[in-house]
Amino acid sequence: MALLDVKHLTKNFGGLTAVSHVDMTLENNELVGLIGPNGAGKTTLFNLLTGVYEPSEGDVLFEVNGKEERLNGIAPYKIAGKGLSRTFQNIRLFKDLSVMDNVLIAMNAKNQEGFFSTIFRLPAFYKKEAGMEKKVHELLHIFELDKKVDTLAKNLPYGEQRRLEIVRALATEPKILFLDEPAAGMNPQETADLTDLIRKIQKDFGITILLIEHDMSLVMEVCQRIYVLEYGQVIAHGTPEEIKNNPRVIQAYLGGEI
Ligand SMILES: Nc1ncnc2c1ncn2[C@@H]1O[C@H](COP(=O)(O)OP(=O)(O)OP(=O)(O)O)[C@@H](O)[C@H]1O
Ligand SMILES: [Mg+2]
Repeated sequence: MALLDVKHLTKNFGGLTAVSHVDMTLENNELVGLIGPNGAGKTTLFNLLTGVYEPSEGDVLFEVNGKEERLNGIAPYKIAGKGLSRTFQNIRLFKDLSVMDNVLIAMNAKNQEGFFSTIFRLPAFYKKEAGMEKKVHELLHIFELDKKVDTLAKNLPYGEQRRLEIVRALATEPKILFLDEPAAGMNPQETADLTDLIRKIQKDFGITILLIEHDMSLVMEVCQRIYVLEYGQVIAHGTPEEIKNNPRVIQAYLGGEI
């Protein structure tokens, strides 16, 4: 049984089929790439997997303790609670809050201590918060943001804002991390550093990653398997080597970047 088993997943927006009968599996601790031209349906697929959209057809099955759970139609926060976490193509941070607060809020969304203990600041809340801050510091250290804990998110350079997004997603202790173009807008040095970090996350955190990325060198370097979407359909699937040499993929990209 795969950790995530996506079957015939389809999303129609009126007359447009943005995602069309997609079959995909993610195994434990795999790093899988999702590529395709602009408008191919990559982000829509993420939105289906994280509960933002309900599928028009098909199933999203998630393995929990040896049993398959159907995620279709479950609210995004509940899906996050089950261990599926994501970043967004357009950075979504609390711009006027500090780096630390941005991460603590993300953790709180998952680790609800209970409404009343949070409101009345009962001991359980403080105890938990102290442990949480230690964990946040560790995460921020890995992402070289530990010297910026008090910096407002809006004052971080762009590359650091993107890294903070990933820290926020990791703070929920996901089993699967969905990264939507994490290197978008980064310079070559920032992209190279991010490549190392993504590898480190997979190795040290033991989680599964599905990576949308237009930077082909990044995708080819870190991914074990790659799915290629075009007009909502999977047109190719295989190792980086197989994808690089696939005529249909080369054609989809007009012989460009690959
Ligand atoms: N909420 C929506 N309503 C209507 N159409 C949508 C909606 N969301 C996405 N689409 C359409 O679905 C198609 C796929 O879009 P999507 O954003 O998933 O592509 P993408 O592969 O992520 O592209 P990019 O590489 O540019 O981010 C596009 O034609 C888009 O206009
Ligand atoms: Mg997109």
